[in-house]
Amino acid sequence: MSPQANTGALKVELGRRYRFAASHRLHSGQLSEEENQRLYGKCNNPHGHGHNYVLEISVSGKVDPATGMIANLADLDGFVEREVLELFDHRSLNEEVPAFRDKVPTTENLCVEIFRRLKSFSAAKLERVRVEETNNNSFEYTADDLMDSTEVGAHAEGNKL
Ligand code: NI
Repeated sequence: MSPQANTGALKVELGRRYRFAASHRLHSGQLSEEENQRLYGKCNNPHGHGHNYVLEISVSGKVDPATGMIANLADLDGFVEREVLELFDHRSLNEEVPAFRDKVPTTENLCVEIFRRLKSFSAAKLERVRVEETNNNSFEYTADDLMDSTEVGAHAEGNKL
């Protein structure tokens, strides 16, 4: 018998993957037109461009001895649908998501905003939000580095539209 068998409920982490498509334009109101162009390159083009984002979230909790689960996936899916997918999918992040009216919709900032929106999930503890922007880029945010309102301005995407 393992030592954990005596502790009652066991903590387990659950990962779940979602997809959404959205467009964005990387442009900071704190920089000049020239600086924006130099920093963001093609990602600063006025009409924006789209990504097929992959969102991975991890939540943790104790295994309920009765159900054998830490949370009902249907509850989690419904929560993510309401809090994130309905608002972000097939939207212009800059123009249709209020959080990005004054904040550059880099994937760094997207991770933080999604974390902020999902942290109130009541059935389990949100551990991590990971967003893949392209096959080459992903960003991850955890509660441990909860920041002040400092904006993440850099974009790691480079030329990989
Ligand atoms: Ni982009």
